[in-house]
Amino acid sequence: MTHQLDLPIRPRRNRTSPALRDLVRETTLTPADMLLPMFLHVDDHDVPIESMPGVTRWSLDGLVKEVGRVAGLGIRGVVLFPKIDDALKSSRGEECHNPDGLYPRAIRAIKDAHPEMLVITDVALDPYSSEGHDGIVAPDGRILNDETVEVLAKQAVCQADAGADIIAPSDMMDGRVEAIRDALDADGHTDVGIMSYTAKYASAFYGPFRGALDSAPKSGDKKTYQMDPGNVREALREYEQDVLEGADMVMVKPAGPYLDVIRRLAEVSTVPVAAYQVSGEYLMIAAASRAGWLDERAVAIETLTGIKRAGADIVLTYYADRVAEWLQTTS
Ligand code: PBG
Repeated sequence: MTHQLDLPIRPRRNRTSPALRDLVRETTLTPADMLLPMFLHVDDHDVPIESMPGVTRWSLDGLVKEVGRVAGLGIRGVVLFPKIDDALKSSRGEECHNPDGLYPRAIRAIKDAHPEMLVITDVALDPYSSEGHDGIVAPDGRILNDETVEVLAKQAVCQADAGADIIAPSDMMDGRVEAIRDALDADGHTDVGIMSYTAKYASAFYGPFRGALDSAPKSGDKKTYQMDPGNVREALREYEQDVLEGADMVMVKPAGPYLDVIRRLAEVSTVPVAAYQVSGEYLMIAAASRAGWLDERAVAIETLTGIKRAGADIVLTYYADRVAEWLQTTS
């Protein structure tokens, strides 16, 4: 007989069987934790998005049907992003508060067909801006904060009027949470929540998303409003401000490269913390899997588990529907 070590503590004992591993797992993913970002356009065809293999830009009909399908998988909410026709874009992005525009029509159609589904809406000017910026661009190229906030508040009210449950400002202008809260309340929408993109970094991982919406900045970059990837104290400062202004939830974005930021906010936050696994994070997994280099299911679940383990209560991910399906079958 081989020599038996005198080891009272053997961590491997808790890993002996699938049942035991399931029993002691500290972090689990569930469909109710995940929100699915979805793209839509005015065309009546559903189109595969070239820059994001496996993701579709939906027609209005296609979108409503797809929301029904993902609801059946246990996903409780979707986040909507519109591709707006170039002819409707302008420097002040007025189309963003047109009550008959594509976006409010989509919100109404989803809430009519699936009233139980949470509809989370994006507030920012980039899909509507002829310059492709989240704010109004001055002639000298500066992004005008206070003028933009006024438009964002109108955009939020327009979305709430159409039936949005949660307004999610992704623009990173200063003071927009308070302005949106005031505007919603003044319009009677005291029950509509705000999920603020609190620590949104100026990230190269947004590239595929901008391809999906044709919303890349025409000139310059977003570094005067989105955060520098080297900073974490600044995330805490944004957090304090957003909570004081009335944010009901805060978000870190991207997620995977910013797990320490998620952790820091989770440690102090008095509101739920969300994290957004963005298009570039999705694409790295999707592309490597399509090339046969990674196991898509295993890597997607591992990255999302890591994001939750870091402290996220809610994860926005393009894998939400597929993970919900995968969770129905054990690997
Ligand atoms: C813009 C917005 C972006 C994303 C969500 N809202 C891109 C950007 O800031 O340029 C990116 C999401 C993703 O990459 O999946 N308001």
